Formats: sequence, C-alpha cells, structure tokens
Amino acid sequence: MPKVVLAYSGGLDTSVIIRWLKEERGFDVHAVAIDLGEERDYEGIREKALSIGAVGAEVIDAKEEFARDFIFPALKANAVYEDKYPLSTALGRPLIAKLVGEIALRERADAVAHGATGKGNDQVRFEVTWAVLFPQLQQLAPIRDWGMSREEEIEYARKYGIPIPVEKKSPYSYDTNLWGKSAEAGPLEDPWFEPTREVHQWTRDPQEAPDEPRYVEIGFERGAPVSLDGEELSPAALITRLNALAGEHGVGRIDMIENRLVGIKSRETYECPAAVVLLEAHRDLEGMCLERELAHYKRMVELKYAELVYYGLWYSPLRRALDAFVEQSQATVTGTVRVKLHKGNCVVVGRKSPYSLYRHELATYDRGDRFDQSAARGFIQLWGMSAQTAEQVRREAEEG
Ligand code: ARG
Repeated sequence: MPKVVLAYSGGLDTSVIIRWLKEERGFDVHAVAIDLGEERDYEGIREKALSIGAVGAEVIDAKEEFARDFIFPALKANAVYEDKYPLSTALGRPLIAKLVGEIALRERADAVAHGATGKGNDQVRFEVTWAVLFPQLQQLAPIRDWGMSREEEIEYARKYGIPIPVEKKSPYSYDTNLWGKSAEAGPLEDPWFEPTREVHQWTRDPQEAPDEPRYVEIGFERGAPVSLDGEELSPAALITRLNALAGEHGVGRIDMIENRLVGIKSRETYECPAAVVLLEAHRDLEGMCLERELAHYKRMVELKYAELVYYGLWYSPLRRALDAFVEQSQATVTGTVRVKLHKGNCVVVGRKSPYSLYRHELATYDRGDRFDQSAARGFIQLWGMSAQTAEQVRREAEEG
C-alpha cells in the first residue's frame, strides 16, 4: 500500500482524514502531531490516531525550534501583517510542513497530507513549503477535495466509530501556538459582532484585570529576548511565561478585517499577549539603538517580510536575504526594556542599552549642552535650497 504522512491535529477533520485516506484512497496513514506550544494531551492524540486506523503515530515537540528559528527572526523583523497580526499561524505552518516532510522521507512515504480547507491561507503555506523542500512527495488535501459537507463528514465519522466531540461544540474555530491564538467562525463572521467572553481564552477582560499594574523588564541580546525580570529563559519558556503574565493583564487582544492571500476578506480575532509585548518592547529598543537611516529603511523590509510570511513564502530566497539584512541590523539591539502592563495596555516606560545612540549632552536643553547650535544655520540653508530653487523657478515661469 502507498504511504502518506498526515499533519494531524487530533480534531475531527484530520481524524476523519485518517480513515478516509485509508478507505477511499488506499493509503497507509502515519499521523504526526506537532507541538508548537498548544497545551494538549498529546499522548491521547497519538493514541487516538492509532485507534482510528493510522499505521503509525508520533508527536514532535518543536516548541524551542519554533521560537528560536521562526518566531525570533520574525520578531527581529517586527513582522506584523496589516499593522495588526503578529503572524502566529503563518509562522507555524512552514515548520509543521517541514517536520512532516522530513518524517515522510524517513518513513519512505509517497505522500504528505494536511487538513486545511480550500478557502484559507494554510493550504498555501503547507503546499508551497512541501513543493519547495520535498518536490518528490505527492500532496493531498482531502478537506478541499473530498466534497463532503459538514453533516456528511459527521456521518462518515459515525460510520467508522471516530470520536465526535460530545459536549456542545463551541462555534469558534481556534488555532493555537506559542505566538498566539486565533478564533474564527460562528458569530464572529459578522464583523459588527463584539467577541463575547467565551471567545477569549488567553486574556482576561481588561475591565477585570488587576488594578495594580505589573512592570516587566525584558532583556534583549542582538534583537532576541533572553530574560524576564533578570531571569534568563529559553526562547519558548520566555514566550510561555510572558503569555501568561500579559494575558492576566488583558494585553494582546486583536480584532481585525484581514486580507487573505486567496482574495477573501475575513474577520479575525487573535490573542497574542507575548507577541504584542515583545514587538512593542523590541521596536522601542530599536528606537534607541538603530541609526536613523537604518531604522527608516528597515521599515520597508519589515513590511515585505510580514507579507512573505503571510503568503506562505517562508522558504524563499527573498525571505532568506531579508533575514540576513535583519540579522545584521540587530548587532546593536541589546539592552533592557521596561514595560508596564495594565488593564489591556502595554506601555514602554523605560529602556537602556550599552549601544544607546541617545546622547544626553546633545539632547538636553539644560546645562551640559554640547550641541553647537550655530552649525544648524548652514545646514538648513543647504537642506532647503533644492525646494527653494524649485519654487522660485516655478513662480518665474508662471508669471511669464
Ligand atoms: N487568518 C490567520 C492566518 O491566515 C489565522 C488562520 C487560522 N487558521 C486556522 N486554521 N484556523 O494566518
């Protein structure tokens, strides 16, 4: 029998896929669940896959790789899609696809499969990654291709004794990893509908957050966060800790209309407590440590970087080249940022760095001023000369 390795989540869709690929397509299915920081019973998920008919099943803990090799590069690039979305799902998919592909090679499988629909970005991220890294593998997207309605799918599950969630299923569809949690579908499809309390699972309602603000000091080395309040932590541990801390203070809620790559506008709600705090802190430290022209130019790179990640082009020459630029730009982004978390807000209230370009003797209006103000006059003359000349000529020409 041909063999397929499936990116398995443990949910109904990918569970039905296991059986469907076996019954309808004649595949031996090897299921792989990747732990990117969603807290779940992974051993239970593994056993479930086997009980449904997978010939093999395994779980890979990829939290540290995810944080170090995907999240931190994106953080250094301040990668945010459409000014709001920190790209949690978009960063996770290429790593899942890479790991699933590697296992397919190890298992000498013929194909790889995912459980994304035909309407979203995730199918693109999976399939582009596989096409780039594993062109020899056949790709299967059963949900997109099987043409079953939701009811038919549940019927199919029933027929083969696949566990169907018994408790009244939440109308929301979540996708979770270290960098954030997205919620879609159900009432959220109405852009006017305000998310009710059960939508949010990681963040406290800001109104009910503690009255006392929480200060956190985040240590950065070359653009990567390395410590919280002086305690050094691994990348994944740091993000996990900060998610809890900032979520407790209601920080990290995002509500937006987003342009999907496939041309659909969708209403998205996210909870990204650590991402929101780290992006805010990182940008602030760059404000202190990056030379002006580099800082301004980097904004353009950031925009493109975010777009590439969103569009599923993580494994592309341009992303690698941009990463080289970003990495170089971070040589001096070392220091500590102090943020205040309070009732849904995250505000930077202090920063310091051995590479600080802030010079008190230049900035001050008080005693100790070492800035030569007389130099400004000639500078401004030359600075304005081009515009001044143009205006003069325009007037002369118009006045005939
Ligand atoms: N809109 C976001 C993105 O495209 C989140 C997608 C969530 N994915 C999911 N399968 N629910 O990155």
